[in-house]
Amino acid sequence: MKEPDNTEELTRLRAEKKRMESLLDFGHKLSSRILDLDDLLKMIMAETREILGAERCTVFLRDFDNDSLYSKIADGLGSREIRIPLDKGIAGAVARSGEIINIKDAYADDRFDTDVDRKTGYVTKTILTCPMKDKMGESIGVFQVLNKKEGVFDGEDERILLLLARQAADAVENAFLYDEQKKMFESFIDTLSDTLDKRDYLTAGHSRRVTFFAVKTGEAMLLFAHELELLKYASWMHDMGKIGVRECILAKPGKLSAEEFEQIKNHTVFTREILGKIHFKREFRQIPEIAASHHENVDGSGYPRGIKGAAIPFFARII
Ligand SMILES: [Fe+2]
Repeated sequence: MKEPDNTEELTRLRAEKKRMESLLDFGHKLSSRILDLDDLLKMIMAETREILGAERCTVFLRDFDNDSLYSKIADGLGSREIRIPLDKGIAGAVARSGEIINIKDAYADDRFDTDVDRKTGYVTKTILTCPMKDKMGESIGVFQVLNKKEGVFDGEDERILLLLARQAADAVENAFLYDEQKKMFESFIDTLSDTLDKRDYLTAGHSRRVTFFAVKTGEAMLLFAHELELLKYASWMHDMGKIGVRECILAKPGKLSAEEFEQIKNHTVFTREILGKIHFKREFRQIPEIAASHHENVDGSGYPRGIKGAAIPFFARII
């Protein structure tokens, strides 16, 4: 192909080619199924900033329960949460109207709140804000880029930011659902653990302490994040079967008789039965087995099965 003589045109074409490649790369990264919401947002913000040639990028998510927008990660500002009421600021206006706002001189625009700059010491010059809409056309968040490194954000930047936001919407929704599911799961375990604490008040807080030390041990062993998660949940629920042990035995002060001790030992069997009824996702299917084996000993002197060494699940040996 003959290259155009015009140097300016050539530079423009090269920049356009680079942008097209970055857009394709962005789509590819989105399809790599990053399920952690924070990780996904971090990736989206870094890529958007790069593609738009901006100094900063923040993705706000809409909190429908509290009529606000929030961002867990604001690059350049650390990892604290920023929360904006939906009826305030440029991001709020964009989320409400679903329309893009392009400000070429922030301090000359009444809609810009100079307070944020005053607090952070940052000087905002140009702002491009666009909505992120779901398949139904509802704004589920807002993309905001600040300070274009060269010049001001133009119509082409507006189209690209809208395209990025549209591409990101599905991935963000997926990660959001995953995050909600995780919170629901953890609150469910927390409730079970609290129920047990209320009943077995002599050892209340025991499950949380065991979880703390088990995870610390796992970290020292350099376990992977998904393994630490499995260890955390199995530890948290390891004594759940105590719910099935009679209260007069659980709360008995002093030494237990041999028969009473036999009943206490049953809590591991009950743990397996109770946890076996929970539908765990594939990665957590071993939880009932791990939790039910927490009183097994490597020399085979433990209970309930008296299994030895490597026959005891690895994570149960940590617990
Ligand atoms: Fe136990």
